[in-house]
Amino acid sequence: MFAVISDIHSNLEALTTVLSDIERRGIKTIYCLGDVIGYGPNPKECLDLIIEKTEWCVLGNHDYAVFYEPTNFNYAAEQASFWTREVLEIEGEKELHNRRWSFLGGLPMRQTLKTKQEASTIVMDFVHASPRRPINEYIFPDDVYTNPVKVRVLFERVRHICFVGHTHLPGVFLDEPDFYLPEELGNVYPIVDDEKAIINIGSVGQPRDKDNRASYVYVDENELHFVRLKYDFETTMEKIKAIDRLDNFHAERLQDGR
Ligand SMILES: [Fe+2]
Repeated sequence: MFAVISDIHSNLEALTTVLSDIERRGIKTIYCLGDVIGYGPNPKECLDLIIEKTEWCVLGNHDYAVFYEPTNFNYAAEQASFWTREVLEIEGEKELHNRRWSFLGGLPMRQTLKTKQEASTIVMDFVHASPRRPINEYIFPDDVYTNPVKVRVLFERVRHICFVGHTHLPGVFLDEPDFYLPEELGNVYPIVDDEKAIINIGSVGQPRDKDNRASYVYVDENELHFVRLKYDFETTMEKIKAIDRLDNFHAERLQDGR
């Protein structure tokens, strides 16, 4: 049994809500798909929690932006990453300071898990964005209609199950290609031997599917469960609005889930 979380974006209220739900379910293993930071007001606190609570984390484009440089960011996102970098650069407790920077600098681009259940072996890959461009490529639900060739080509790089985040839009892609919203699946996707899937787990700290609740998934006995949780986004909004360098749009979108 394990949980997968992604796209926290320095949103401490959403992250603590998700972590307590995971704990309440008795889940001990947590994996993270990146974008721990960027956009939100609590980069240090979120990094510390991810370092402490997760087994491992892969590199997201916003983590990359802070550690290396922003690529293809709009002005507000770029400013948020420069602000985040400055916050992390302020020397506080040396050990924590160094731990955060070496965590960011050491994030891998992908992770793989193989599990054996009776006669079947399940191979799961974990990336931030897509199986061919793990940090930056967007796979949108509409792609199955507007760009089916792209989705089929992506599936050539999927061995069995590939977990992604990045678009902040949860759901399951199949190789037909097809896309299913969590609610169309009753919030459960059974992982089976002969079906490839790209599973977007949604975003903890900045949902964009018009539902402002935090999103994450957990896997229990080969069943994947999508979870949504209300959290205190008003507090996060206030914190963002109080920081001049963070655009108010990053606050408003939390309320609207966009
Ligand atoms: Fe993100």
